[in-house]
Amino acid sequence: MTENNRPTVAVIGGTGALGSGLAGRWARAGYPVVIGSRSPEKAQAAAAGFGSRGASQAEAAAAADVIVLTVPYATHAAVIDEIRPHCAGKTVVDATVPLVPPKVGTVQLPAEGCAAVEAQRAFGAEVRVVSAFHNVSAHKLQGSAAIECDVLVFGDDKEARESVMRLVEAAGLRGIHGGPLANSAAAEALTSVLITINRLYKVDGAGVRIVGKRADGSPL
Ligand SMILES: NC(=O)c1ccc[n+]([C@@H]2O[C@H](COP(=O)([O-])OP(=O)(O)OC[C@H]3O[C@@H](n4cnc5c(N)ncnc54)[C@H](OP(=O)(O)O)[C@@H]3O)[C@@H](O)[C@H]2O)c1
Repeated sequence: MTENNRPTVAVIGGTGALGSGLAGRWARAGYPVVIGSRSPEKAQAAAAGFGSRGASQAEAAAAADVIVLTVPYATHAAVIDEIRPHCAGKTVVDATVPLVPPKVGTVQLPAEGCAAVEAQRAFGAEVRVVSAFHNVSAHKLQGSAAIECDVLVFGDDKEARESVMRLVEAAGLRGIHGGPLANSAAAEALTSVLITINRLYKVDGAGVRIVGKRADGSPL
């Protein structure tokens, strides 16, 4: 932890569309950020843009308190294998959506239920997997503008889920608890629905908003 009580965040795949947007927002919010990449040089170049540092995937995971996974589903299992030795006792935030090209607008969840549950099984009980950010368009995260999209946050460990809610807020978004990790299937599936909506309605990155009133009449 830093003196401001902000954890060091590694963004594995932080050179990419989603990860670079999140990493930039956390860096600007004062979080120590390390970009993890297959190429440390590429990571360093990406991180320099917001005053952070780059490293290999394993080094970034080892240096962090919280590890955020923003890699394509096709490489999800391999990346988990690579960083697993450096994740014990830590929280891993998984943003992976199990899209299967070319039909990315069709829900195709894996047999185990969803990518987040696969990640938890692969990491084992020593890692607390929380999943989030499935429904936010990556290009909207670039810069600091407000984004009309809630972030559903799933996880079996309450404390870990709360810590990720703080990261969502630090990125300028509203987090909504979505319950246990198995419920991540709903948000992962919803991404394909949003991709379809984008196509059908020519929307530039449809998002989700959870609405409702609490028992005292105040809005959610
Ligand atoms: N894009 C979105 O709007 C969005 C929104 C919500 C969730 N997601 C999910 O977030 C994840 C990342 O999406 P993205 O659009 O940011 O992906 P991306 O830009 O295509 O890739 C992210 C990074 O993953 C690494 N990578 C790519 N192929 C790899 C491979 N074969 N092996 C190891 N690493 C590889 C690359 O980093 P290095 O080359 O530096 O290693 C790349 O910069 C996906 O699971 C996606 O479904 C995306």
